[in-house]
Amino acid sequence: MIIIKSTLDYLNTYNKQLNSKKIGFVPTMGYLHEGHLSLVKESIKNNEVTIVSIFVNPTQFGKGEDFNSYPRNTERDLALLKETGTDIVFIPEVEDIYPNNHKSLVEIGIDSDFTNKLCGKYRPGHFNGVAQIIIKLFSIVKANNTYFGLKDYQQYILIKNLASTFFPYTKVIGVPTIRENSGLAMSSRNTYLTEDEQLLASSIYKNLIMISNIIKENVTINHLSLAKLFNDTLLKKSSLFTPQYLEVYDTNLNQINTYIQNQTFIGTAVYLNKVRLIDNITF
Ligand code: PAF
Repeated sequence: MIIIKSTLDYLNTYNKQLNSKKIGFVPTMGYLHEGHLSLVKESIKNNEVTIVSIFVNPTQFGKGEDFNSYPRNTERDLALLKETGTDIVFIPEVEDIYPNNHKSLVEIGIDSDFTNKLCGKYRPGHFNGVAQIIIKLFSIVKANNTYFGLKDYQQYILIKNLASTFFPYTKVIGVPTIRENSGLAMSSRNTYLTEDEQLLASSIYKNLIMISNIIKENVTINHLSLAKLFNDTLLKKSSLFTPQYLEVYDTNLNQINTYIQNQTFIGTAVYLNKVRLIDNITF
């Protein structure tokens, strides 16, 4: 496994060794879990070379969010990636990705119809930061196939749209969420939770299933009453929950008022104590 620490070193390797190879790319912020490794395995299965980046991207964290405390353990990540069969790990420094102290940063404008929903509404600037790092990484790595977890569904849609505009040779592939036995979606942020809290957090997914069953039965989607039912059921379970949103769309994130089989999407964000957890279901 080759470890590359700067853009120039990557470009050199690319020009010398990778130019004509089928490249799979998995961008991550590290602190890898089974969810990330499922993306890596998918890439290894379908490409000649698999590249994983580890970079905690400062521009996608808002003020007061967890950039400084975001869990990091590069040594452990490298051991897991090696064991999984990764070919190249790209671990750039912030100054390499955003030179001149971010002064050369290009601001990305994202359609307000997109940023006014789901996480976009509650994390202003977050998707601009995601778009910046993805444009930067995609232009460096020049992959054929890229892999993203569907747990971050809105991010997946954003990146799919970005790629179709700016990187038409790069395919964006969504990989299903990996869950604990309890149903809790795997996330690096789960490490902020105690074992008991992780078990409690699994009610989020159970409640998503409950809401999806109601939509299937009723066909008409009553957005307000579904959100209220979701919140009330969670709060009945524990007062440690603070639900942030529950929103229903089609799988392209367009508004819908009736159920469409296999193309209906519910996304949610819920605080458990101070930890913000997201999850979704397509049915
Ligand atoms: O999903 C993540 O880990 C990050 O948002 C990503 C896509 C690696 C961009 O920093």
